[in-house]
Amino acid sequence: MTDVHSMTLEQLSGIHGSDKLAQGYVWYYDLLFRALKDQPVAVLEIGIGGHNVPNKGGESLRLWRDYFPNGQIYGLDIQDKGFLDEERVTTFCCSQVDTQALDEVVAITGPLDIVIDDGSHFNEHQLGSYRHLFHHVKPGGYYVIEDVDSAYHLAFGGDPSLQSRTTVVEHFRERVHYVNSRCILDEYIDRSALENEIEAIIFGHALIILRKALAPKPLVVTNVVRTAMMEWDEYQALSHKTEAGYFDYLNNPPS
Ligand SMILES: C[S@@+](CC[C@H](N)C(=O)[O-])C[C@H]1O[C@@H](n2cnc3c(N)ncnc32)[C@H](O)[C@@H]1O
Repeated sequence: MTDVHSMTLEQLSGIHGSDKLAQGYVWYYDLLFRALKDQPVAVLEIGIGGHNVPNKGGESLRLWRDYFPNGQIYGLDIQDKGFLDEERVTTFCCSQVDTQALDEVVAITGPLDIVIDDGSHFNEHQLGSYRHLFHHVKPGGYYVIEDVDSAYHLAFGGDPSLQSRTTVVEHFRERVHYVNSRCILDEYIDRSALENEIEAIIFGHALIILRKALAPKPLVVTNVVRTAMMEWDEYQALSHKTEAGYFDYLNNPPS
């Protein structure tokens, strides 16, 4: 019999009946999480599954338990899913937007390598949990929001007409510049924003993945960077003026 720990995420999704394969999420997770596979990671999934049906749910917790043989797997659900607790799996019963309860959860889990929000799917909840939990993701770790098709459904606080700017998709679409905040002058970006800690934003189908910066990004653009940026702008302006502009610039750099 094949050892579960040598199986791919795709195989494990099949075995445990997780919908992450059908949703297309496994493709991203395999790419990003493979390097962490044997690490002692701490993974928290919001939404354990099974809703209020007794002894139902836990497909994804079992998936992560087997994919990360040295990992601690945590699940959080508004329903009690204690029947799933075992050596490397711990469940918590609370709402994903109960900030006091979330503080108690992270006091137990410690800093997290991966957080996956597969809970209520309400836009407000998705953003609320992110605002509270992203602080607790380790540098280089991931914060994932699944099922962001909620951004297009009124029932989940989304907007099918794409006019609202408060949906989860719009929130991160508007913050794309934070990925490049090291290249932007202080007057144009708020470096104290939570988003300044984002290294990468990946938009997939119904999925948003954030990678937290490996180290804190600078809180001010230094004069050296500012000067380099200005020179680069001057160079761009000159080199694009004429075909020979590039050589003009090299031969006669601005003093
Ligand atoms: C889609 S299921 C999760 C499936 C599971 N992640 C999986 O992949 O196997 C959603 C779960 O979120 C839970 N839930 C709904 N509202 C919640 C809230 N406000 N806070 C935490 N969990 C919630 C539901 O009880 C349900 O079990």
